Amino acid sequence: MAHQLFYSSPLSYSSTSKGRHISLMSRNGLLLLVALLVILGVFLPWVRSPLFLFPNRTFSSFSPNWRNYSLAQAAKFVAKDGTVIVCTVSYPFLPFLNNWLISVSRQKHQDKVLVIAEDYATLYKINKKWPGHAVLVPPALNSQTAHKFGSKGFFNFTSRRPQHLLRLLELGYNVMYNDVDMVWLQDPFQYLQGSHEAYFTDDRTRIKPLNHSHCLPPPDRNGVTYICSCMIFLRPKTGAKLLMKKWIDELHAGSKVYEGNDQPAFNWALNKTAHQLDLYLLPQAAFPTGGLYFKNKTWVEETKGKHVIVHNNYIIGYNNKMKRFRDFGLWLIDDHSLESPLGKLE
Ligand SMILES: *[C@@H]1O[C@H](CO)[C@@H](O)[C@H](O)[C@H]1NC(C)=O
Ligand SMILES: *[C@@H]1O[C@H](CO)[C@@H](O)[C@H](O)[C@H]1NC(C)=O
Ligand SMILES: *[C@@H]1O[C@H](CO)[C@@H](O)[C@H](O)[C@H]1NC(C)=O
Ligand SMILES: *[C@@H]1O[C@H](CO)[C@@H](O)[C@H](O)[C@H]1NC(C)=O
Ligand SMILES: *[C@@H]1O[C@H](CO)[C@@H](O)[C@H](O)[C@H]1NC(C)=O
Ligand SMILES: *[C@@H]1O[C@H](CO)[C@@H](O)[C@H](O)[C@H]1NC(C)=O
Repeated sequence: MAHQLFYSSPLSYSSTSKGRHISLMSRNGLLLLVALLVILGVFLPWVRSPLFLFPNRTFSSFSPNWRNYSLAQAAKFVAKDGTVIVCTVSYPFLPFLNNWLISVSRQKHQDKVLVIAEDYATLYKINKKWPGHAVLVPPALNSQTAHKFGSKGFFNFTSRRPQHLLRLLELGYNVMYNDVDMVWLQDPFQYLQGSHEAYFTDDRTRIKPLNHSHCLPPPDRNGVTYICSCMIFLRPKTGAKLLMKKWIDELHAGSKVYEGNDQPAFNWALNKTAHQLDLYLLPQAAFPTGGLYFKNKTWVEETKGKHVIVHNNYIIGYNNKMKRFRDFGLWLIDDHSLESPLGKLE
């Protein structure tokens, strides 16, 4: 009972994992637990009412029907100061999600994280451990297909991203999107300077001067840009919505050409909306592509202390990605899983 109470009730949501650990282990913790049980025993009818625990929260019953939990409800629940941080995750990527979440928690931004689950197993698993932080926008994907990078299934998985982001903008939120093969080393919000509509990072590995321009980079010899669709921050303004709409249009128009990668479509959308949009290219030293961070030790040494979010891209394969994080001391779930609001996953 006590165990269940701590792990599946919204109470565990507000205590840090560390606090939870201590409170279960130490003598004071036991006293607290007993006291809590007494209080809960006395006020049992109140506990069932969400008003007791979450006066401002939106759950309509103690154990909501997650299948019917909508994006609007979920966003309202997690948003802080009008901002939500979203990622999209299928079941095989839960370890990466948890790794990313530890790093987000270290910067104290985990409370506004909303996981858009791509399958029901992910939805239920996350909401069981961390109620209200996962939502599924139907239809659910077959998680086996979603696992294969580059497959039609994986394309389906990523092509829905701009639709979710557009929806959140239309609901009036600032939205940060992250791929979960990232790790935060500092708080990225302090880098979102000014009041631009869209912020993003360059995926090119060519080293730029520290004072590089924050405009959309010029296309290369092939006429294309390599902006990453992996980390985007958007304000709920006309230009940002237009960019998302254009991205959706580009994906539909070119779905055969793109073959499982939504990034070129994002770049064409940027190309076509650049003059209608107040955009901001984030600094390379703070948001380096994996093709630079994991491959050039000299550069990493030169820019030491400036890195904010590291992206584990420019590598193929799930196990290789995991190994590379391990090799660089960024696979945090081995030793620090208690820092994640999801705790240990197994
Ligand atoms: C809950 O709402 C009340 C009034 O609507 C507000 O004063 C209070 O700060 C809110 N509490 C939290 C934790 O958001
Ligand atoms: C879930 O939502 C659907 C459609 O909105 C509704 O028909 C169904 O009764 C709901 N189920 C529950 C258990 O609330
Ligand atoms: C991709 O999505 C479309 C439309 O939602 C669906 O009909 C199709 O079965 C999906 N394909 C795969 C491989 O998941
Ligand atoms: C960056 O700094 C160099 C010299 O320090 C200067 O020549 C260059 O114009 C600067 N570039 C920008 C975009 O400000
Ligand atoms: C858009 O792409 C075309 C073709 O590559 C290029 O000539 C043009 O400069 C690009 N526009 C912007 C704003 O990047
Ligand atoms: C690695 O970084 C250093 C320092 O910025 C740079 O001089 C060098 O050209 C880079 N090497 C490669 C292969 O890009």
